[in-house]
Amino acid sequence: MDAMSRESEKRQSKLASCDPIWSRMRDEAEVMAAGEPAMASFIHASVLAHNRFEEALAYHLAKKIGNDEVGPLLLREIFEEAFESDPCIVQAIRADLSAVFERDPACDTYAQAYLFFKGFHALQCHRLAHWLWKQNRKPMALFFQSRVSELFAVDIHPAARFGRGIFIDHATGLVVGETAVVDDDVSMLHGVTLGGTGKANEDRHPKVRRGVLIGAGAKILGNIEVGEYSRVGAGSVVLKAVPPYTTVAGVPARVIGTAEKQLPSQDMNQLLDGCDFQI
Ligand SMILES: CC(C)(COP(=O)(O)OP(=O)(O)OC[C@H]1O[C@@H](n2cnc3c(N)ncnc32)[C@H](O)[C@@H]1OP(=O)(O)O)[C@@H](O)C(=O)NCCC(=O)NCCS
Repeated sequence: MDAMSRESEKRQSKLASCDPIWSRMRDEAEVMAAGEPAMASFIHASVLAHNRFEEALAYHLAKKIGNDEVGPLLLREIFEEAFESDPCIVQAIRADLSAVFERDPACDTYAQAYLFFKGFHALQCHRLAHWLWKQNRKPMALFFQSRVSELFAVDIHPAARFGRGIFIDHATGLVVGETAVVDDDVSMLHGVTLGGTGKANEDRHPKVRRGVLIGAGAKILGNIEVGEYSRVGAGSVVLKAVPPYTTVAGVPARVIGTAEKQLPSQDMNQLLDGCDFQI
């Protein structure tokens, strides 16, 4: 090994030791590449070729959403600019990745979620769209939104606000309106709508508080609050505020129980008649 590669290896391990998620993801990616040589060059380009998590993610997402009109090179610069200027985005992304790994029984490694899970990809692209929106770069923010919608079937308005530690499972069909707010540690499945009723014009979308679990296909409509650590049953239509620690279900949704002293979004607690409901 020459002096230059020794220096670069030393630098890599120094950086990795300050960033346990990145360090672990690199190790997982190495194992994955060794086990599936046909994907080694993709895994190398998306993870192993980079020195830092942010650098890798900028490359990986820019490659996904770039097209002939706005190419991956330009998008990569925008991702890097946003990561550099707002450390909160980077912290939120790590919390989201941990949320997927901890809450999704189908996820064995951080590398799987990072490389393949479109709920994670869609949310990180939304974080960028939101950053652009706040900078008043609306056309670029809308480009991000439309590409995410085309590629992942997830349509989140760039102005919608998301906390950290968010898990969006499967993700297909998720729609989130302009004035929606999703606090920290929320989990939601595919087909969820956080929409308006069509009866109000300004602040018209739901406010989902910390730790809520929203089941597949649930429609939560209007400027109503879903209280912390509540659960919304699959397929429900929620038209009224949900108190904290409460389970609602049905069309229209009614209270069917409590979620007291539970952390539904973290446990993904969806017990049906005492049987574990596998997602
Ligand atoms: C609501 C939920 C969290 C269960 O809560 P729970 O407190 O354990 O509720 P229970 O299973 O004890 O059911 C209580 C009552 O609500 C009804 N109920 C449960 N979920 C319902 C739903 N989604 N829609 C309508 N009614 C529902 C039950 O039939 C039961 O009715 P009954 O008292 O008349 O028999 C769960 O049903 C759910 O919808 N989880 C989301 C699952 C999901 O999205 N899976 C997708 C995987 S890809």
